[in-house]
Amino acid sequence: MKSAVFHAFGDIDVIRIVDVEIPATGESEVLVRVRAAAVNPKDTFIRKGRFAALTGSGFPMRTGFDFSGEVGHVGSGLTGYKEGDPVYGMLDGWEGGTCAEYLVVKPHQLSIKPTNLSFEEAAALPLVSLTALQALRDEAHIKSGFHVCINGAAGGVGSMAVQIAKCFDATVTAISSRQNHKFLRDLGANRCIDYHDTDITSSQERFDIFFDVFGNQLFDNVRPILAPKGVWVSTVLRPEVGEAVERTRDSKGQCARLVIVRADREDLNQVRQWAEAGLIRPVIQQVFPLADIAAAHRQQESKHTRGKLVVTIP
Ligand SMILES: NC(=O)c1ccc[n+]([C@@H]2O[C@H](COP(=O)([O-])OP(=O)(O)OC[C@H]3O[C@@H](n4cnc5c(N)ncnc54)[C@H](OP(=O)(O)O)[C@@H]3O)[C@@H](O)[C@H]2O)c1
Repeated sequence: MKSAVFHAFGDIDVIRIVDVEIPATGESEVLVRVRAAAVNPKDTFIRKGRFAALTGSGFPMRTGFDFSGEVGHVGSGLTGYKEGDPVYGMLDGWEGGTCAEYLVVKPHQLSIKPTNLSFEEAAALPLVSLTALQALRDEAHIKSGFHVCINGAAGGVGSMAVQIAKCFDATVTAISSRQNHKFLRDLGANRCIDYHDTDITSSQERFDIFFDVFGNQLFDNVRPILAPKGVWVSTVLRPEVGEAVERTRDSKGQCARLVIVRADREDLNQVRQWAEAGLIRPVIQQVFPLADIAAAHRQQESKHTRGKLVVTIP
């Protein structure tokens, strides 16, 4: 089967499409015939070696964490799926591999694909929507009527966070460049702010949740615009974030949290229900054939992608 791999850390030219064996399916695993995958910043960081302490350096490394496709084979110890079922999901941890014709996954990493979405659309959802859901619900305890600010609202995670915050009946302020404001209002944002001309941290606002998706608004800068019990959540694993999380671990007032997305079948079911009810929709900037995966990585590295980049598997 075809699989996108790299044999050394480096720039996009290290990515190769190679022929490898179809992986064996364990007793408690499902073999998926992948129809579409999506690219995330994580793929580009891993490829460059930025997470080498976590990935190790066992080459070749495979790439891609989101997938949609059809069940090809079900391990003998599993029930609930049959050959041909349309599924979607994500890998967790640091080993990718969804940009390939076949993929072996564990039961918590997949669920039935939303019936109203194409394979391309379904592949655009898992990692970013679970990140947004787990940040807002599990870390920040979002409630109806909360005022939520999302910094980096136009990207993969941000565009899902806007929609998921609306599912919880929150009021959403979205921060992005001006060219994305109409797009974000159409997704449900109540108010949009352009980071080029407005410093949100100097405003008179008081947010119940500040979700720093982009990763350039540190907790201490944001405190003046957080409500007394407000929660700041970051997506970015870096020392200042860890320090703020540690410092506010037992705080009864403002606190800092870090989301680390995990694959979860119940959360994939929740996302499917919202998608089928028309409450959330995937946002795809561009679809690339597997042969052009390097171009998808290049676009992801621009840091100005609107929504997601999807890769179709022939
Ligand atoms: N911890 C976890 O489990 C987890 C999970 C998922 C993602 N992440 C991390 O979260 C971050 C975002 O991921 P993503 O998939 O959403 O990335 P992405 O899709 O590449 O985000 C691109 C967006 O960033 C916006 N942006 C660029 N410069 C900005 C600025 N100065 N201020 C505010 N927004 C700006 C752009 O909007 P404009 O074009 O309007 O500027 C663009 O739409 C990445 O670092 C990723 O690694 C972590």
